[in-house]
Amino acid sequence: MTGPIIAAVLTYVLMLAAFRWHRLRRFHVSVMVFIICFDVAMPFYLVSTRDWGTRLIDHGDILSFGVWMHFGLIVTLYVLYVIQVQTALRILRTSKQAMDVEALEAVHKEHRAQGIGILLARGLVIITGGILAEPASALQIMNA
Ligand code: HEM
Repeated sequence: MTGPIIAAVLTYVLMLAAFRWHRLRRFHVSVMVFIICFDVAMPFYLVSTRDWGTRLIDHGDILSFGVWMHFGLIVTLYVLYVIQVQTALRILRTSKQAMDVEALEAVHKEHRAQGIGILLARGLVIITGGILAEPASALQIMNA
């Protein structure tokens, strides 16, 4: 496994903990904000440290299904993050305002359902990223 994949797997474990212990509000919010920043920074880091011209154009990887699947999942994840932050702000606002229990419950439900989608999308982003980073070892696993 390459460094960025190991880092991403570790942040995934942290994310699972923040998902599980959402009632620890400060822990939950700070971990999730950190992970969103991590995911936004990762493409910049990869672009600055790798030779994408050779990989995508010269080797023709830009036409591969794996690259587009990975890209599509990343876009999905970013869209889910935007919606998730919106519901998070609604939770914070609604819980501060006068008690509208039903509205609060509905927005919690939404945030939870999207959260499950985020866990799924992020897991798949890391898996497809791992396959793209190490095509040789992935093939060994498939042939074993
Ligand atoms: C900037 C990002 C986020 C912020 C500010 C945020 C904020 C919050 C807040 C304030 C709560 C209520 C905590 C409580 O129970 O008192 C909450 C609940 C929760 N959050 Fe987040 N969250 C964020 C991202 C995420 C992400 C990315 C996930 C999933 C991977 C997630 C999953 C959950 C879940 C499952 C709950 C419990 C919902 C329920 O009450 O059933 N959150 N979040």
